Amino acid sequence: MTDTLKIAAISGSLRDSSYNTSSLKAAAELAPEGVELDIITLHDLPLYNADVEAEGFPEAIQKLQKRIRAADGVLFATPEYNYSMTGVLKNAIDWLSRPHGDAPLAGKPAAMIGATPSIVGTARAQAHLRDVMYYNAMPLLSSAEVLIFKANEKFDAGGRLTDPDSRKFLGKLMQEFTDWIRQLKAGE
Ligand code: FNR
Repeated sequence: MTDTLKIAAISGSLRDSSYNTSSLKAAAELAPEGVELDIITLHDLPLYNADVEAEGFPEAIQKLQKRIRAADGVLFATPEYNYSMTGVLKNAIDWLSRPHGDAPLAGKPAAMIGATPSIVGTARAQAHLRDVMYYNAMPLLSSAEVLIFKANEKFDAGGRLTDPDSRKFLGKLMQEFTDWIRQLKAGE
C-alpha cells in the first residue's frame, strides 16, 4: 500500500462563500484515493513585519508553518484582485517564505487553480503567483491548468462545484499533481 499523501490546500479568499475555497473542497472530493487535503483559510494572520519576525513568529504563523511543513505539496486556489493574487494570499506567502534558508514553502511541489465570476479565469493572478513560487524554489506542476471562469454559473447555492468540465479538469489536475509528487518522493 502506498503512503497517504498530504496536500496543504490554501485559499486566497476570506469570504464565507468563496468560489476558491469551494474549489478546494471540490478538489478534495475529486482527489485520488490515498490523498488528503488540509484546506487552509488565512483568517487572523498578522501582516508580515520583519520587526515582528525578529522577535519570533507569532502563534498563528507558527500554526500555519506546521501545516505546510507537514504537507507533501501545496495547492493554491487564488482569486484575482486587480489582475493579481489577493493581498491576503501574498501576505501568507511572505510569512511562509521565512526564515530565509529554512522556509516552509521552499522546495514544496505546488499546483494552482483559481476561480472568478469574470471570463479571464484568474489567468493574470496565476501568472503573478507563478513568479512568487519561482522565487521560493517551488517546483510547479505545469501540465494541468484549471481556470474556473464564470464561477457564478458553476457552483450551486451550497457552494458545490457542479460544472462537469470544471470537475473533469480539476480531477485531472489532482491526479497529475499527486502522481508527480509521488514520483518526486520516489526519486529523493
Ligand atoms: C475583484 N474581482 C476580480 N475578478 C477578476 O477576474 N479580475 C480582477 O482583476 C478582479 N479584481 C477584483 C478586485 C477586488 C478588490 C475585488 C473585491 C474583486 C472579482 C473577484 O474575482 C470575485 O470577487 C471573486 O468572487 C473572488 O474570489 P472568491 O472570494 O469568490 O474566492
